[in-house]
Amino acid sequence: MVNSQNAKPQVTKAVIPAAGLGTRFLPATKAMPKEMLPIVDKPAIQYVVEEAAAAGLQDVLIITGRNKVNITNHFDSVPELEEALEKKGDEKKLNRVHRASDVADVHMLRQGQPLGLGHAVGRAQQHVGENSFAVLLGDDLIDERDPLLPKMIAEHDARQATIIALMEVPEESIHLYGCAATEATDDPDVVRITGLVEKPDPADAPSNLAVIGRYVLRPEIFEILAVQQPGRGGEIQLTDALDTIARGESGEVYGVIFRGRRYDTGDKADWIKANVRLGVDNAELGADLRQWLIEFADKLRG
Ligand code: G1P
Repeated sequence: MVNSQNAKPQVTKAVIPAAGLGTRFLPATKAMPKEMLPIVDKPAIQYVVEEAAAAGLQDVLIITGRNKVNITNHFDSVPELEEALEKKGDEKKLNRVHRASDVADVHMLRQGQPLGLGHAVGRAQQHVGENSFAVLLGDDLIDERDPLLPKMIAEHDARQATIIALMEVPEESIHLYGCAATEATDDPDVVRITGLVEKPDPADAPSNLAVIGRYVLRPEIFEILAVQQPGRGGEIQLTDALDTIARGESGEVYGVIFRGRRYDTGDKADWIKANVRLGVDNAELGADLRQWLIEFADKLRG
């Protein structure tokens, strides 16, 4: 499980698919990618890049689509803005600008055709090569106080297997997610996956364990994705490719059950909740916001 001091860590790269159309958030996402919607004071995708970097993954490949030039700009330096802040001596704001471009080595690749999440991940093959890698979905924000990726990477290293993240959801919500059929292991937080189905009807769902947007994948996934037929919604689904591995003989898939705080920033109500929940803990805004919320809640109660 633990690499010897001189050995290279096995998982060093992160892939962030960010090519979706963001239709749940129209019209805000008409001309701006949904990944650039701010949560408190940072675009959602910066949290995800920071999460990858905090787990030791400094090499980040973002798979983008049309209309995503803002993402590229966000992770680049902005000399004229930096110069203006330097002249003013505004270190605090300067640090914030630098943080976005310094946090990791961010690479961009266009998806080409919007054929689904499985296709987007498949596009990473050349960048990733013969290595295992992490996939982080931009819509899922994992609270940094409840780290998930380090546990998944440790399980990957220990089991030499594909690892996905799972979360218990209410039965009526399972149709929004990939859903896992599982067997217990010795670890109460880890299950062996025996099958996966993308967005099942509740009646057909094998469990209430939903796939959330963190994966540690092995390079074998690329061969499977290359021949994966379109599935749910006519799209090439990552879930279907993982189901092939789980049911086949070429390797195993395990799920790490996440019990921490997660926000779906592609959903309007959850996006507002994420802003409030992270806002009240923000060093600058928290005290005022908390006080205002208490008064506001009192008013709502009438
Ligand atoms: C994707 C995956 C799904 C997963 C979900 C997690 O769906 O296809 O299996 O449960 O992310 O957020 P999407 O939400 O992109 O439709």
